[in-house]
Amino acid sequence: MQIHTTVDSLRVARRSAGRAALVPTMGNLHEGHITLMRQAGEHADAVIASIFVNRLQFGPNDDFDKYPRTLEADFEKLEAAGVAHVFTPDESAMYPTRQTYHVDPDPAQIATLEGAFRPGHFRGVATVVLKLLNIVQPDVALFGKKDYQQLMVLRNMVRQLAIPVEVLPGETVRADDGLALSSRNRYLSADERREAGRIYRCLTRIRDAIRAGDTHFDGLERAAMTELAAHHWQPDYVAVRRQADLQAPQTPNDALVVLAAARLGTTRLIDNLEI
Ligand code: PAF
Repeated sequence: MQIHTTVDSLRVARRSAGRAALVPTMGNLHEGHITLMRQAGEHADAVIASIFVNRLQFGPNDDFDKYPRTLEADFEKLEAAGVAHVFTPDESAMYPTRQTYHVDPDPAQIATLEGAFRPGHFRGVATVVLKLLNIVQPDVALFGKKDYQQLMVLRNMVRQLAIPVEVLPGETVRADDGLALSSRNRYLSADERREAGRIYRCLTRIRDAIRAGDTHFDGLERAAMTELAAHHWQPDYVAVRRQADLQAPQTPNDALVVLAAARLGTTRLIDNLEI
């Protein structure tokens, strides 16, 4: 496995990589990322992982400074997963001058859910991902469904800007109690970790109720918010939405997804389940 810290080095390697799949990450890799790497390997000759904690997508009160950085352990996991190249630029390699050109996602798509609670987040994500796509020029890029709105924003960016890459989604990987794997899970205390599976149970209950014919989405959302609050969570939202555009359901035939974000102690967790 080759490690590249500069754009030039990565570009030289890319020339002989054949069909390439990019898996962008911010590091602190867990089984969810590694599953994406393996999936990427099924679509390409070479898997290229990027590790870059992107300041642009963090708000002033977000966890940029304390975001876990575990490069050496990440390299070991990537090597074992058969990744060919890792692109791990520092900030001066990624943003040699202040980034003054940005990608502004469709306001209608980011006025809700994560976009509403994290102003500027998706602008930062879209900007860095476009830049990574331009640097690597992969044939395929993979993003996990755990960040459901991110996946939608990036798919639309690729479509609308005619970026020549195929975007593939990766399924969420979960712990035994259902908690979606996330780098932020490591912020949880032992007590919080025991409690954390509740968000998945709330989503499962809503999914099962809707599958059984319940269409009282407001009531289902409110019950989950109340349950989370009763167990010392601070829920931001529990919302049943259309998979296609994350807007409120309109017709009985809409394919749906239920999404939630809630803070447990100081850790903000997000999750979702397709219905
Ligand atoms: O999902 C993430 O880890 C990040 O948002 C991404 C896509 C790597 C962009 O920084």
